[in-house]
Amino acid sequence: MGEDLRFPDGFLFGTAASATQVEGHCAQSDWAAFAREPGRVRGGDTPDDACDQLHRFREDVALQARLCMGAHRLSIEWARVEREPGEFDPATWDHYRDVLGAHRDAGITPMVTVHHVTLPRWVAQRGGLLSQELPALLSRFAERAVEALGDLCQLWVTINEPNMLALQAHLLGVWPPARSSPVEAVRAHQNLFRAHAAMYRAMHEAAGRRGHSISVGVAHHLRVIEPERFGRLADRMWAALFERLFNDAFARAVCDSGLHDFFGVNYYSRDLVRFSAAHARAGFLRRLVPEGAEVSDLGWEIYPEGLGYVLDAWWPRARVPIYITENGIADADDDQRPRFLVGHLAEVARAIARGVDVRGYMHWSLLDGFEWAEGYAPRFGLVEVDRVTQERSPRPSAELYARIARARRIEA
Ligand code: NOJ
Repeated sequence: MGEDLRFPDGFLFGTAASATQVEGHCAQSDWAAFAREPGRVRGGDTPDDACDQLHRFREDVALQARLCMGAHRLSIEWARVEREPGEFDPATWDHYRDVLGAHRDAGITPMVTVHHVTLPRWVAQRGGLLSQELPALLSRFAERAVEALGDLCQLWVTINEPNMLALQAHLLGVWPPARSSPVEAVRAHQNLFRAHAAMYRAMHEAAGRRGHSISVGVAHHLRVIEPERFGRLADRMWAALFERLFNDAFARAVCDSGLHDFFGVNYYSRDLVRFSAAHARAGFLRRLVPEGAEVSDLGWEIYPEGLGYVLDAWWPRARVPIYITENGIADADDDQRPRFLVGHLAEVARAIARGVDVRGYMHWSLLDGFEWAEGYAPRFGLVEVDRVTQERSPRPSAELYARIARARRIEA
C-alpha cells in the first residue's frame, strides 16, 4: 500500500502487432499457403483479411493517438515487399512510408520489426529457416528496409522471437513447415542467429551511409521456467535444459557478442516443467501451470511477478536499454486484462525504481488479430475487432491503459 508507481518522462507506452496478424491481403507468404491446408489452423481461419489494416491503417493510428499511445511496434511483410527474389516493390515501400508517416504525424514513435514469423513463399521453397541463404537474404531485405524507411524510424527489431519460431516450426510442428525434428530446430535456431548478426551489421551500415541514426535489437521471448517437482531430479534437469536452450541460448549469444543496441523482452507466462516419457516428440518435456493458478483464455498462467524476475535476470547481461516489446493476454470478455495490465506495468515501474533501464512497454496487442495456428479465436486486443464488419471497439482495458499512459503512473 502507498506504493508510488511512476514512469519517467520519455518512457514509451505503446502497443504491438505484426503485419500478417493485422494487415490482411498477402497471398505470397508461407502462412497464406499453410493456413489453406486442412487442419493447420483452428476453425480453418486464414490471414487473408485479418483486420484489413492494409486499408485501415489511418483509422488505427487515429485510435492509437486517441488512446494516448506514444509508441507502436509493427512489422513489414517481407513477402509483400520482395515478391520475387531481389525484386523489391516500390509501391509497398511507399505504403510503409505512409504508415510510418501517419505515426510520425500523430506523434507516435514507431518500432519496426523486419522479420516476424512469416516468410515469402519463395524463401520457404528454398529451405526457409534451414536455408544456408537465409542470413544473406534476410540481411539484404533488412538493409533495403533501412534504406527505404530509416528516416522515419529509429527503433528496429531484426527478428521476433527466434526461439519460439524454431520451436513451433521445426520441433512442435505447428507452424510451417510443420516439422518435428530436434536437429532441425537447433539448426533453425542457429541459422536465425547468423541471420540476426548479418542483419545487425547490414542495417547499421545502411543507416551510416544514409546518415540515419538507428537502434537495433531482437524481440526475445523469455519465459519463467521452473521444475514442477523440485524434489525430482529429472524435472530439475529438464527445466534447466529448457531454460538453457529456449531462454538463454540466443539471447545470451546476442548479449555476449554485443550484437544489439537495446534488449527486447516479449513476456507472457511461466511454465512448470516435468520430465515426461510420454512426450518424446516434444523432447520429453511437458509444460504445466501451477494448480489453481489464474489462466488466460489460452490456458496460460497469469504471472506478473515473472516480468520483474525476467527484467532483473537480464538487465546485468544485456547492458543496453530494455524495451518490453510484447506483453498481453487472450481475454475475450476483458475481465482479466485490466488487472493483467496493471500488474505487469507495476512490475515494470518497480524494476525501473530498482535501477533497471526500461524505456518502454508495448502491449500485445492493439487489435484482435490472427493468432497463428489458433486462428482468430484468442482475443488479444485492447480493441475488439468485429470479424464481419471490421468495426473497432476499444475495450475497457484500453481506456484504463490510456489513463495510465496519460498520468504516467499507476493510481493505487
Ligand atoms: C508472440 C508473437 O510475437 C505474436 O505474434 C503472438 O501473437 C503473441 N506472442 C501472442 O501469442
